Amino acid sequence: MTDPYDHTAAVEEALAALDLDTKARLLSGQDMWTLPAVPGIGLKSLVMSDGPIGVRGRHWSAEDPSVALPSPTALAATWDPQLARRAGHLLAQEARRKGVHVLLAPTVNLHRSPLGGRHFECYSEDPLLTGAIGAGYVRGVQEGGVGTTVKHFVGNDAETARYTVDNRIAARPLRELYLAPFEHIVKNAHPWGIMTAYNQVNGSTMTEHRALVQGVLRGEWGFDGFNVSDWTAARHTVRALRGGLDVAMPGPRTVYGARLADAVRAGEVTEAEVDDAVRRVLRLAARTGCLAGVPAAVGPDEIPERIDGRALAHEIARRAFVLLRNEPVDGTAGGAQPDGAAARVRPALPLDAAALRTVAVIGAAARDARVLGGGSATVFPEEIVSPLAGLRAALPDGVEITFAPGAEPHTRIPSAREGFTLRARYLAADGQLLADTPQFDGMVHAIGSFPDGVTPHHLHAVELTGSFTPQTTGSHTLAVSGTGDLRLTVDDAVVFDEHCAPAGGDPFEDFLNPQERRIAVPLTAGERVTVTLWHVPRSAGLGEDLAALNFTLGHRAPQPDPDAALEEAVRAAAAADVAVVVVATTGEVESEGFDRTDLRLPGRQDELVARVAAANPYTVVVVNSGSPVELPWREQVPAVLLTWFPGQEAGAALADVLLGTHEPGGRLPTTWPARLEDAPVTGVTPDDGRLSYSEGVFIGYRAWQRRPAPSPAYAFGHGLGYTDWEYESLDTTPDSVRVRLRNTGQRTGREVVQIYLAPENAGDHRPAPDAATPPALAPDAAAAPDSVERPARWLAGFATVEAGPGESAEVEIPLPGRAFEVWSEEAGGWHRVRGDYTVEAAHSLTDRRLTAEVTAV
Ligand code: BGC
Repeated sequence: MTDPYDHTAAVEEALAALDLDTKARLLSGQDMWTLPAVPGIGLKSLVMSDGPIGVRGRHWSAEDPSVALPSPTALAATWDPQLARRAGHLLAQEARRKGVHVLLAPTVNLHRSPLGGRHFECYSEDPLLTGAIGAGYVRGVQEGGVGTTVKHFVGNDAETARYTVDNRIAARPLRELYLAPFEHIVKNAHPWGIMTAYNQVNGSTMTEHRALVQGVLRGEWGFDGFNVSDWTAARHTVRALRGGLDVAMPGPRTVYGARLADAVRAGEVTEAEVDDAVRRVLRLAARTGCLAGVPAAVGPDEIPERIDGRALAHEIARRAFVLLRNEPVDGTAGGAQPDGAAARVRPALPLDAAALRTVAVIGAAARDARVLGGGSATVFPEEIVSPLAGLRAALPDGVEITFAPGAEPHTRIPSAREGFTLRARYLAADGQLLADTPQFDGMVHAIGSFPDGVTPHHLHAVELTGSFTPQTTGSHTLAVSGTGDLRLTVDDAVVFDEHCAPAGGDPFEDFLNPQERRIAVPLTAGERVTVTLWHVPRSAGLGEDLAALNFTLGHRAPQPDPDAALEEAVRAAAAADVAVVVVATTGEVESEGFDRTDLRLPGRQDELVARVAAANPYTVVVVNSGSPVELPWREQVPAVLLTWFPGQEAGAALADVLLGTHEPGGRLPTTWPARLEDAPVTGVTPDDGRLSYSEGVFIGYRAWQRRPAPSPAYAFGHGLGYTDWEYESLDTTPDSVRVRLRNTGQRTGREVVQIYLAPENAGDHRPAPDAATPPALAPDAAAAPDSVERPARWLAGFATVEAGPGESAEVEIPLPGRAFEVWSEEAGGWHRVRGDYTVEAAHSLTDRRLTAEVTAV
């Protein structure tokens, strides 16, 4: 039973009233985010929006703010599907407020390689954890009456050449890893939609992949929702329809619409095939309350109670922060001890606020936190609490806070803001002014909709114009970016005038991150100048009928010498009781549309941490990144706290955790390598158009365990809290385990109990002769299913428990039948591998506390 209401009759009646042209039109976007309304049958226009940490809505701008929750990696780090479900309730509420019917989320591709550009937007390297968090999220959103599209089905695990890459994935890893989260979510949370990926899998682009969409997703798993293309991915009318694609986005020019109606008339596809797709769209409309006369799946009275978005963003953030390291501070570090007292042996965190006199907050990201990942996951929160602001608000009066940026992580010039007053004037070709809007900063950006009065057909040029009053005398850097003509004047002088062509790679990437050109302009403090950036946009491949515009005027004031900035940070650290250093990635190295090329923190941030740590042994490092980064100094500092992209309440949650009003609750959903070269999978660039997943099922911890060395910096499941747990007992039944544990520390805490399953015989286990390069597996090695090589252990279940000091807690965790199975083409599908297994109750993959034996029969 996947549908609480039976809409069949209403859907059939609506379908019967539609002619071919209307049906074909209904399967094609009418613009960037919506499908056409059909008033004759009482069908409203269905509105879709990204996703996944908020609801951007129809406008890609700060005018229409949305709550910004922590990044998906953070949500997964809570290991709490119920929390994901509450996030879903909040997002449904946001969606309804903005008139959005379908959220383009969650993203459940896997962390195959740490280089994956959208790693921050996916959950984990483990399919079970990914599926459980994704199912919680989908349930929550849909319980609020809003649809989801689980994405990107399937194999969009990296960004390089994402439109064309042919991922070669053998059946076993495809089933056991990459399809597994989709399967779990489809079977357990019944999503109303799916989004097919840009890439190909085994020779067919996913938008046309009949075997996986019609065969596996719909046929085997019983998916009854609609299938939308990723944006611009649908390329062929007949093949897409036959492959099971229902809706081609964005519009208005797609391979469906009039082209689909023509294909029916030409006898290339049947009207019955079109009807099947329309039926699924009408079903979606019925579920979301967009089909008149049909009760929505969730009526207005059944919507979960109103949720305070800020409070939930705050709660998820601190529950997601992963305390990677928390060692005692040695010596008389930080002056935090009373004069003359012997050094206390206590971990660096939480800080003892009552004993603090001065705190040095260091790092550009402490002031400008990176709270969310880039690309289509971008939303615009109304307010952001930076780490600096959060600490200022939370530290007692009388504690002196010094701030020093130390090192600049950005390589791009930020958009013009301080000292600028700007407006954007939208002009037609004949010079007619179509709209004139005030600008928050130097970035003029629209996707999907323009200001009132502006249409894609009439817009010719945009003039960003206003004044700038510098605060410093010297050489200021102005930067322009955009595709098309760009002319910049400062007072009456033309300082830049060029046609800037797209780089010619990924159209979204060209559009969202156009190349930047810099111009040095000498200016005098206090002397106002007039600045005008004239732009004639050229489509960067997104289609001329689309409301799409993106160009920016950037500005950077004369910078202090980088060495002097580092020195200043070191001085601030040396003079403080505690140094809190916030280091971060930037949108230039970690975002959608490209993969990372290394795992280093950008700029001189590593040097900054090392020098601060040398100046003050009480140095706490806060890592603000969506995916793994190398932390070469990690053994030189007593505490390292990972905050991911923490969402809008970043600083408030950070203050809670640093000062100990709450413990950090996160556990790593993905292994953190010490160095990129240690990571088991680093190949994300196709060779001759193909990317071979030759590692088979051995990604993430499944691969790390397969070789004796090197060890990762931090293992899968790792994360410290502020209390201790003793695992007291582990009892098993054939399909569940019961774990009893006691909080042996001094304060209330939460533990994520992890259950691993280790087969007595991991099969035809062939350790790699060279640890760094495990042998490539032959696709689906024709070994008998009982003897295929399996990982040393894998996650089979988990649960969170909470207990006060001295209290014990008990939890029962199901052991799914699938945990004992392998996919075997030879055996014709899923195959249960009989035999003895060790069940392990663990704090993390490498900190296993209790074991018990089970036999699979
Ligand atoms: C992304 C999708 C997103 C869509 C619409 C695409 O580039 O891959 O995840 O939903 O854009 O913004």
